[in-house]
Amino acid sequence: MSTTDLAIVILAAGKGTRMKSDKPKVLHEIAGKPMLKILLDQLEQLNAARTIVVTAPDMDDVKAIAAPHRIAIQAAQNGTGDAVKVALPELEGFSGNVLILLGDEPFVPMNVLIEMAAHPYPTAMGLIPPDPTGLGRMIMNEEGTLDAIVEDKDCDEQQREIYVCNAGNYCVPSDKLKSWIEQIGSNNAQGEYYLTDMVEIAKNEGAPFDVFTIPVDHVWGINDRVQLAEHENVYQEMMRDQFLRAGVSMVDPDSVWFHHDTRLAVGVHIEPNVFFGPGVIVEEGVHIKAFCHFEGAHIRKNSVVGPFARLRPGSEIGEDVKIGNFVEVKKSNIGDGAKISHLAYVGDCEMGRDVNFSCGAITVNYDGFEKFKTVIGDGALVGSNVSLVAPVTIGKGAFLAAGSTITEDIPDDALGIGRSNGKAVEGWARNFRARKKKA
Ligand code: UD1
Ligand code: CA
Repeated sequence: MSTTDLAIVILAAGKGTRMKSDKPKVLHEIAGKPMLKILLDQLEQLNAARTIVVTAPDMDDVKAIAAPHRIAIQAAQNGTGDAVKVALPELEGFSGNVLILLGDEPFVPMNVLIEMAAHPYPTAMGLIPPDPTGLGRMIMNEEGTLDAIVEDKDCDEQQREIYVCNAGNYCVPSDKLKSWIEQIGSNNAQGEYYLTDMVEIAKNEGAPFDVFTIPVDHVWGINDRVQLAEHENVYQEMMRDQFLRAGVSMVDPDSVWFHHDTRLAVGVHIEPNVFFGPGVIVEEGVHIKAFCHFEGAHIRKNSVVGPFARLRPGSEIGEDVKIGNFVEVKKSNIGDGAKISHLAYVGDCEMGRDVNFSCGAITVNYDGFEKFKTVIGDGALVGSNVSLVAPVTIGKGAFLAAGSTITEDIPDDALGIGRSNGKAVEGWARNFRARKKKA
């Protein structure tokens, strides 16, 4: 069910020059998710009848993220006022309130937008930020309505002292929007069409904007990478808080970094300095020791991972598995109860239950062109420093002698051995030292 009298316009055509990046600004990611997508996902709860994303002609990736919503193309970035103008045709036939939002601020509070959408008069969101630099100032009158919004660059000294800033979000009745937008000119410090001028135009027509003011404790708007990093922090803090409240324990929450899609069950315990990349699921009772890096991994119940473990995409870790320090796993199924306790590489491997994969053992899975599979049966023991040259299959309960290079399949319960044994040469070391000292 949609709210038939609400439409949303999101301005997202800016190149984001200050980002110093080829990527359109609104595609820069927070916890691995493009900022525009974070905003769009949250806006779902408003159930707008239509959402229009304003973007630039060459920004195909922005269009892809905006789908299935409507797209309006702004040919040249002539300012926020011009951006809304290009969205007007997409509002044809719509009647109701239009929320105008900026694509570079994904943490806009939804509860305030809902209030603005229901308000009988035009509204703008005001802001009391820690630092107003770069933000427009709200020029309010005794009635508490807006006389004007003046951009930071256009402020005189007195106006710059005003601490209520423009968040950049507005709610405007559709029957007024077109006329107000069409009256905006470009006589200002930047020679751009400022959307903010709409406020003064409305006031002069006897329809002043009310202001919904919110406090914020972080920078507002993502214009450069400093502000992006600050938003990343805000998002990470929110995720840490949610996980802690949901029963995940973290010794040092600030040193644990999540991807927006990270899933952690109750009772997961995380030591300091752990990074979650995309697609990680961790089940109940798992203990993650310090300094681990995970991507595309599923860790099942009660396993212990780390310290210093790296799980790469396709790591399916069973229950009660032990993965110790300096172990890398990639695209492998690790059976319940298996132990890979130290210094090992496991790639493209089907490892059975209760396998012991000893220190320094590796799968040799790549010949420079293709990847090959290693299969290890339940209960097998792979000795220290064994190289498993794939494709190779090790039978259940087999025993691979330390230091062996295994190039052929080993049957169930057999010994696999392929190494040259060391021998003792009596007195050699003593003679060697004597020779060296003399020289
Ligand atoms: C804008 C506001 C400012 C407010 C601040 C809040 C104006 C003139 N200024 O400033 O009062 O305090 O946001 O963050 O509106 N965009 C387009 N087409 C354009 C220009 C911009 O789509 O031609 C989009 C950008 O992609 C961006 C958003 O509009 O997502 C805001 O533009 P930006 O240049 O970042 O405005 P600010 O200078 O931050
Ligand atoms: Ca901005």
